[in-house]
Amino acid sequence: MDKFIIKGGRKLKGSVEISGSKNAALPILMATLLTDEDCVINRVPNLRDIRTTIKILEELGKKVSYDNGTLIVKAKRKLKTSVSYDLVKQMRASFWVAGPLLARFKKTQVPLPGGCAIGLRPVDIHLKGFEKLGAKISMDKGNIIIKTRKLNPAKIILSFPSVGATQNLMMCASLIPGKTIIENAAREPEVQDLINALNSMGASIIIDNRGRIVIEGKEKLGAMNHTIVADRIETGTYLLAAAATGSSITIKECVPSHNEILIEYLCEAGFKIETTETEIKISKKAKKIKPVNIKTAPFPGFATDLQAPWMTLMCLANGKSDVSEDIFENRFMHAAELIRMGANISLERNCAHIIGVKNFTPAIVMSSDLRGGAALVIAALCAKGTSEVQRVYHIDRGYERIEEKLTALGAKIKRVNPAPFE
Ligand code: EPZ
Repeated sequence: MDKFIIKGGRKLKGSVEISGSKNAALPILMATLLTDEDCVINRVPNLRDIRTTIKILEELGKKVSYDNGTLIVKAKRKLKTSVSYDLVKQMRASFWVAGPLLARFKKTQVPLPGGCAIGLRPVDIHLKGFEKLGAKISMDKGNIIIKTRKLNPAKIILSFPSVGATQNLMMCASLIPGKTIIENAAREPEVQDLINALNSMGASIIIDNRGRIVIEGKEKLGAMNHTIVADRIETGTYLLAAAATGSSITIKECVPSHNEILIEYLCEAGFKIETTETEIKISKKAKKIKPVNIKTAPFPGFATDLQAPWMTLMCLANGKSDVSEDIFENRFMHAAELIRMGANISLERNCAHIIGVKNFTPAIVMSSDLRGGAALVIAALCAKGTSEVQRVYHIDRGYERIEEKLTALGAKIKRVNPAPFE
């Protein structure tokens, strides 16, 4: 089982370059199913979830080449309309193939994605949207079957601004001639990046700042040429690593406006933040970290994906703070592991009550999900001594070359028993 050995208690220094966004790249790779023309996508991060998505595209019939961040998807044979359980069970986002396949072939069969460590993760909002577009939904042996004779443009009102449902339905509607409207849509930067990629294929999609998306569906979509937006969650994770270790670093190739609320809360917590168009510089201003309460929310609210790394910072604050997880029902697995490193956290339903301590103590801990793993790495960077973070394959799902980037920032981190680079 691969793990990181981290010698903590050292400050970070220098700068780190942000990779392309995992959560933008995944739906954009699925969008290549909407056309038989060549798709060229730049700044695709080399992550486990990307490699899983490449396998899905190849299983469906695409020819994919991926070299040095550039991914080229070409037509190879008539696309299949169903995906195997083996791949879907590895990555919930596999369900995003449904929208494109339904739009092109009026039918698709996708295994119902299982839950994961952070919750049940249902897809009811996706399915209600497909029904609005004219599809019939049925279940058979754990598979969702979505089919119809004809899809029609429609007005869809999402019960919750689900990122995945917004992206899945937008991809489907982009190939349904006529005007489809999605109200109460997600406004995450990854949704905007998918819109940009679809519009590069000839789609005509606009989104306003209230989460209303208008799609003028087309008969056909053409070649895609797109560069993935910077990963705002990776950006936030390195900002929080610097804050927790009391370091001054510069984050490069990022989009500061995608991290506004985090920057706001870091300033409140006593850090100095300077930004340019593509960089963020963080340094410690106040002597002690001030406690700040947060609630996760859809964009532009506080990102649920930064809740765990934020919790690590609040464990070192000078006083009490609350972290309320209002997006997922079970996203506090990292709390128990942080407590094993000396944190003082009590959980009450979806709220973590934290009393700051002087520092973490080194320990052997285990990641249970992607962002929780990152939170444990940050805690290990703070703890004076040697810690071990196990099951780092979770972290490899979303952080490109994390140990290289941290080593370049002066951290002492080593990967042991690396899992096969599948
Ligand atoms: C995307 O997941 C991201 N994943 C998640 O990042 C991120 O945490 C999440 O958006 C919220 O920002 C990708 O983009 C691949 P949702 P998604 O649909 O689309 C409920 C990471 O760490 N819901 O916005 O699955 C759902 O259970 C990952 O990078 C329904 O009830 O998130 C959750 O409670 C983790 N029914 C809430 O909505 C549905 O049909 C938000 O889910 C869909 C969602």
